Amino acid sequence: MNITDDTLRQAADFLAAGELVAFPTETVYGLGADAFNPAALARVFEVKRRPRFDPLIIHISGLEDLERVADIASLTPLVRKQAADLCRCLWPGPLTLILPKIPSVPDLATSGLPTVAVRFPAHPIAQKLIRLLNRAVAAPSANPFGYLSPTSAEHVREQLGDQIAMILDGGPADIGVESTVLDLAGSTPRILRPGGTPKERIEAVIGPLEAGETSESAIPCSPGQLKNHYAPKIPLILHGQAEMSSVPYNRSEGYLFFSSDSRSRWTKTQQPDLDGEGESRIRTLSEAGNMPEAAANLFKTLHELDKLEIFAIHAEQVPNAGLGNAVNDRLFRGAAVPFPEQNCR
Ligand code: TXA
Ligand code: MG
Repeated sequence: MNITDDTLRQAADFLAAGELVAFPTETVYGLGADAFNPAALARVFEVKRRPRFDPLIIHISGLEDLERVADIASLTPLVRKQAADLCRCLWPGPLTLILPKIPSVPDLATSGLPTVAVRFPAHPIAQKLIRLLNRAVAAPSANPFGYLSPTSAEHVREQLGDQIAMILDGGPADIGVESTVLDLAGSTPRILRPGGTPKERIEAVIGPLEAGETSESAIPCSPGQLKNHYAPKIPLILHGQAEMSSVPYNRSEGYLFFSSDSRSRWTKTQQPDLDGEGESRIRTLSEAGNMPEAAANLFKTLHELDKLEIFAIHAEQVPNAGLGNAVNDRLFRGAAVPFPEQNCR
């Protein structure tokens, strides 16, 4: 629905009644539920077909709400200061903090963990909705578990439309990749999921993050960070930037390039015989090679390619700096090739 004060009020009423409402955030669309209503939380897991071991992010609409979900007092003075600095400098925005939880946060929201994921989104619609409910809103991305994330109301409607009370349409998501998940509950701050807030911005606030050791641990460090996540239905094959130009052209496959430069390197080598349909199978995230634009287009373009009658999607890695880190993470996880194991405790 288009958004007026009335529709927002109606959406908040649905949430208060234990129903689910999809809403826009600056990263991706969220599937919202009252964070303190276990029955509504159970519906989130059911609708998304999400395993119960994968905890949800709790969304708040102001710094003053942080202590309604997180036990700040239990942090050491150093971590308390790091948390305060991060909140002051990077909230509202695409950063989720993992903090010790307070007992009243339902176990379903945190999958029984002693910690809670908290985020203060920047999107005005998200903020208004949470404020109207006057309670925190648990919201995973509004897609079936494991599938491409939704960056438009249309994506949500196609995937979950018949199962939820309402979808608030705020247009295409600005950032297009999920929030960065930063663990502040361990011995040292650690990124569990690269996302919309680049590592460099976090380091500018709290100093260098330790490069973690790799581990073969089978326990996911952030339970949602499984391989084969963010995956299209059609197999996604990931190539290094250098390799991409030698991927042979095939009429029944799709191609996803970072920029027009990389696309033309490939076109020169492969000389695809393009008919009118070729263009829809050969896509570019950002003509100019602009990373924020590439991130914003990532899921939208993958959704579009996933609807074509093709057997595989070849994608190239993007330059691995800033937001590029999050884009590559999503590509690796969506691809048949597993991402190198991340450091897990
Ligand atoms: O940008 C976003 O973060 C979007 C929008 C809607 O805000 N939300 C989102 O939620 O991406 P979801 O559920 O798709 O991803 C949540 C991630 C998962 O990887 C989950 O495992 C991790 O956060 N997470 C949640 N609680 C955690 C905890 N206590 N400890 C470690 N990881 C946690
Ligand atoms: Mg998700």
